[in-house]
Amino acid sequence: MKNLLFIGDVVGRTGTDFLTSKLSLVKRQFAVDITIVNGENSAAGDGITPESADMLIRAGADVITTGNHAFKRREASDLFDADYILRPANYPEGGAAGKGVCVLDMGAYSIAVINLMGTVYMDPLDNPFTKIDELLTEIDTPNIFVDFHAEATSEKKAMGHYLTGKVSGVFGTHTHVQTADEMILGGHTAYITDAGMTGVEVSSLGAAIEPVLERFRFRTPVRFKEAEGDCFMCAVCVEFDEKCGKSHKIERLIIR
Ligand SMILES: [Fe+2]
Ligand SMILES: [Fe+2]
Repeated sequence: MKNLLFIGDVVGRTGTDFLTSKLSLVKRQFAVDITIVNGENSAAGDGITPESADMLIRAGADVITTGNHAFKRREASDLFDADYILRPANYPEGGAAGKGVCVLDMGAYSIAVINLMGTVYMDPLDNPFTKIDELLTEIDTPNIFVDFHAEATSEKKAMGHYLTGKVSGVFGTHTHVQTADEMILGGHTAYITDAGMTGVEVSSLGAAIEPVLERFRFRTPVRFKEAEGDCFMCAVCVEFDEKCGKSHKIERLIIR
């Protein structure tokens, strides 16, 4: 049995700092073999930069996934050349830099990580269901984990059921709010609709509340800023059998 830790969207410098202060302890406590972190909001001011990615790796991430903010920063373009930094796999062919899949050689076994993005209330990338069918024919390990970066809970649930028995885990990201529906689907696939975020807890998805309120109340364009205050880290820990790819247990974590 092996343990995989999946950490939801890390927000800003406060989020990356908090991750740095907590991750090694959490990894030891749960005997974690591999850590996946969604880093699409890890840069100060949103997006991901070489500096913020570097902080996530130094904090203990093995693979970084992203989402709709992957290409927000101009500094990010070369970033996706790295083997372990992913952007959604279902960007239309031929345009976006980087890739949406990586395979980690863990010695006696390997692990594939896939990053996909939903298309409901989001940019219309290629159909993620068609894309994952294509990808699964090319992957040669039973240990496959998917970060499904999507807005609609219905689309995430649908993806979880679609991939039941075909992958070891489907973890939703993007809404920054952890859902309480973690489960093992079909005795095989660990699932949660959203893993939640890592950053300032009293905030609006990691952003300071005042500017967000101003935008909602007065409908005027307001620049958001990173919230300040105590952080939390939302994640799931999955125990899986690396010989067959079956997940046995998923535990939801909130570390304060
Ligand atoms: Fe996010
Ligand atoms: Fe997002």
